[in-house]
Amino acid sequence: MVFRMGMNRNVRILLVGERGVGKTSLILSLVSEEFPDDVPAKAEEITIPPDVTPEQVPTHIVDYSAAEQTDEMLMEEIHRAHVICIVYSVEDEETLDKVTTRWLPLIRVASPGQPCPVLLVGNKVDLVDYSLIDAAYSIMEEYPEIESCIECSAKTLKNISEMFYYAQKAVLHPTSPLYIIDQRE
Ligand code: GTP
Repeated sequence: MVFRMGMNRNVRILLVGERGVGKTSLILSLVSEEFPDDVPAKAEEITIPPDVTPEQVPTHIVDYSAAEQTDEMLMEEIHRAHVICIVYSVEDEETLDKVTTRWLPLIRVASPGQPCPVLLVGNKVDLVDYSLIDAAYSIMEEYPEIESCIECSAKTLKNISEMFYYAQKAVLHPTSPLYIIDQRE
């Protein structure tokens, strides 16, 4: 039997996705409530105290940077995460394609048994006048580990706090079962 999170006393959220989709900007926008003009390659790990989170649990937010981290470090972070936000840019469909060709398979490899819960995050909605949310919902139908999909903008702050709330909720109130029966001998 393989158990996933039971009574979580904290939530560890990891952001992954292709380069330039806005992972670091999303984290900094959440924390400072304004869009950063200059972003480092990788945000420092941030701990949000329980009293300012909607679900009242300490929440760690972890950035990923291909420029600063090896594949082994990425696998280790995926393994440690309670929930993973796969970020794509709505103005670059290739970054959405990579959700299924790269990121979801990688997460399944790094968290065998029961894959880590996932949130699909379409960033940079301020740059377009269309939505890719239907494409995201289609992916969600194929991958049960996806708990929800959201579109947002680090620049205008649209849906930023909602995104982190959904991530917390995916861990604390998952829609998938808390455990699965492992068929292996
Ligand atoms: P890597 O560190 O290369 O993995 O990139 P990243 O995913 O952390 O993206 P980053 O936050 O560095 O942002 C990349 C570029 O996109 C920067 O020039 C940001 O200013 C810009 N950007 C990020 N979010 C938004 C957004 O919501 N709207 C717009 N218009 N630009 C954004």
